Amino acid sequence: MTTEEFKKEFEARRLKVEEAIAKYLPTADTRPSVIHSAMRYSMEAGGKRIRPMLLLAAHDMFPSKVDPLPACVAIECLHTYSLIHDDLPCMDNSDLRRGKPTCHKQFDETMALLAGDSLLTYSMYILANEYKEYPAIAAGLVLDLAHNGEKMIYGQVEDIEGERHVKMTPEKLDYIHHNKTAALITSAITMGIRLADEYDEEKLKVAQEIGMNIGLAFQVIDDILDVTSDDATMGKTTGLDAQNEKMTYVSLYGIERSREIAGELTSKAIQLCEKLSSNCDFLKALILYMQNRIN
Ligand code: IPE
Ligand code: IPE
Ligand code: MG
Ligand code: MG
Ligand code: MG
Repeated sequence: MTTEEFKKEFEARRLKVEEAIAKYLPTADTRPSVIHSAMRYSMEAGGKRIRPMLLLAAHDMFPSKVDPLPACVAIECLHTYSLIHDDLPCMDNSDLRRGKPTCHKQFDETMALLAGDSLLTYSMYILANEYKEYPAIAAGLVLDLAHNGEKMIYGQVEDIEGERHVKMTPEKLDYIHHNKTAALITSAITMGIRLADEYDEEKLKVAQEIGMNIGLAFQVIDDILDVTSDDATMGKTTGLDAQNEKMTYVSLYGIERSREIAGELTSKAIQLCEKLSSNCDFLKALILYMQNRIN
């Protein structure tokens, strides 16, 4: 797959995901409209839609007649909730997200808290409701999303504890990154597989290994971009990790070594893709895009 072909395919899929988000979320005027407006505000602000793209890439490899788009919306809801809460003053205290004022700046802290809560709950509702004709699939999707959503919290807890000068170690940093970021990224791939009529547990294990590698690489690159990029390019407030005295890959290993580590993790993941399926071109191209992203 050439870069041009990938870009075209990515854009076509992104549009489908955006349409599905518009379709499955309650309309902004649904009572109480402030909460539905806040949910839509953060969901429709943009974002790279990496997790839905990974889910669709997995669905390519394990095709089924079941529509993957509700699952794409569900994982994006859960991810967006994590961003809304991550930006709150009691967490990273950020004013800019997805190129717009953060949810608590646009609305207020209470509504941002509740919009996050609502997106989390709604993600599970979408899965239960849209896949109710396929109870085994619905159960598998809920299992993955809920389990990894909870791991995300474990990572966030130790991330915040780290700011409070709990003794930081490389082991602790890996724990944080694996849980706060890689777990949900892993679930994007495994959820794509769980939509299939048939898959075996071995494939899920390979998917988990790929997800952990690209998920860790994703957060390492996020840590690098927090230092090397700017607010306009990233669409979010940069420089906060240093300001909040967070332990990151950059603070621990430096920028150059962090880039090397991200490269090594990416190469390992790409090698593993063939073990999942020979039909892995889009997934491999997506993994490379994730490594080379500028925002
Ligand atoms: C940001 O995720 C939070 C991290 C896990 C680093 P993304 O970089 O995927 O954010 P959006 O969805 O594109 O806004
Ligand atoms: C966020 O990590 C991980 C989440 C679970 C939201 P960061 O705090 O580094 O994410 P950004 O940089 O604010 O997007
Ligand atoms: Mg954070
Ligand atoms: Mg943050
Ligand atoms: Mg960051």
